[in-house]
Amino acid sequence: MTQTLPDPPREASAELLYATLLAALDGLLAGERNSIANLANTAALLYTMLPDLNWAGFYLYDGTELVVGPFQGKPACVRIALGAGVCGSAAAARSTLIVADVHAFPGHIACDAASRSEIVVPLVAGPRLLGVMDLDSPRLARFGPADASGLETLAAHLVRASDW
Ligand code: SME
Repeated sequence: MTQTLPDPPREASAELLYATLLAALDGLLAGERNSIANLANTAALLYTMLPDLNWAGFYLYDGTELVVGPFQGKPACVRIALGAGVCGSAAAARSTLIVADVHAFPGHIACDAASRSEIVVPLVAGPRLLGVMDLDSPRLARFGPADASGLETLAAHLVRASDW
């Protein structure tokens, strides 16, 4: 299957950008339920189409801790305990976490010194924690409520479209 990604809309509102991303993601996920394949293509889609990112990808819950999964960006720390850093905090709380300034977040785990802000969206299937989606930006306060809501919708589609 070959798919040409749409150009990200110029000067688009976050809502339009996430609507474009969702349509592109649904196209990528159609007909494929392998979770690694779908995580990998989702990471590439996010990294390619969202501006001002230096890392986009996933940590997967192995029943004990988070282990790095498919991503785009510099090599990252491999294992994160539940409750540790931004990823482990969002996973433990099972809720989206936006950090406007990672240097001001106690326990932030620095994988790329360029990162200044971060958003982490848990992947959950009912009560089951599957992992987290993690985006880093070199720009302070890059992420806001529109990103949280857009990424949560993308994460829900990814979870529903894959076998875990
Ligand atoms: N900063 C994250 C670690 C993962 S990297 O950003 C890719 C954290 O504090 O959990």
